[in-house]
Amino acid sequence: METDWLKLWRELVLAGPPTSNSELAKRYKVHARKRNERPDQLLDFILREIDGETTVLDVGAGSGRWTIPLAKVAKTVTAVEPSSAMVDNLHRNISSAKLNNIQVTQSSWEDAIVEPHNITVCAHAMYASPDLASFVRKIERYTTRTCFLAIRLPPFGGIIGELSLGIYERHHDSPNAIIAYNALYSIGIYANVLVESDIYRWTDNTFEEAFARAKRHLRLQSSTTYDTLIRDTLAKRLSLSDNCYVWPDGMRSALLWWSPSPISS
Ligand SMILES: C[S@@+](CC[C@H](N)C(=O)[O-])C[C@H]1O[C@@H](n2cnc3c(N)ncnc32)[C@H](O)[C@@H]1O
Repeated sequence: METDWLKLWRELVLAGPPTSNSELAKRYKVHARKRNERPDQLLDFILREIDGETTVLDVGAGSGRWTIPLAKVAKTVTAVEPSSAMVDNLHRNISSAKLNNIQVTQSSWEDAIVEPHNITVCAHAMYASPDLASFVRKIERYTTRTCFLAIRLPPFGGIIGELSLGIYERHHDSPNAIIAYNALYSIGIYANVLVESDIYRWTDNTFEEAFARAKRHLRLQSSTTYDTLIRDTLAKRLSLSDNCYVWPDGMRSALLWWSPSPISS
């Protein structure tokens, strides 16, 4: 049967997120710190596309992991971010970087009122938006040159995908770049793709931590129905290295980009 990718995106958004906003914010902070410690091919790619004349819109800016480096090169950056905690962090980071070309708009993208910009970047801020088509069409309406989406790309042969298939009868456990690419294609957007070469592999210090991670990803914290299946699969597929449990899973990101066509707006 043919997959309706927009519908799949919607279903996976509505099935998550698995944890509270405060826990997500805490995890995002750790993730952002780790990301800042290594080169970012996707960000570098975008930086090569902009200069001192370019205006940039950063949708779901968070604490500014992309906003700050973009503003160091661009003419101006408008950062749209709904969370007040993130906006506070963003303001702190902007003043430490001594930048005066960033305007912050506290709003969700769906409700944001902004001017058109040359380039729009939306990095990992679409996972809670069920209507991907509207989200993306709005990005197109406010972009004169290029739209960029950075989205997580899980590995094909991962444990979570295997378990998700066994439990939910679908390989994808959460919104990701494969679903987004196909969903965009289904509405006539032919995106270019850049996949980062580094994969950030998950490791856990104990088997129980790995088990908890699997349950969290599969949104099964309050159910024991699949515990045996999860434990057996982990025992079979995790490898032990330097006393750590190493997953074949992990994350890399993909950048999807395209020029909005006038007829789509
Ligand atoms: C995982 S963080 C990513 C932040 C930053 N773009 C990065 O890649 O480091 C996701 C951010 O998107 C924001 N966000 C979530 N839903 C959003 C929406 N509908 N519109 C705009 N921002 C959103 C969240 O508040 C959060 O700060």
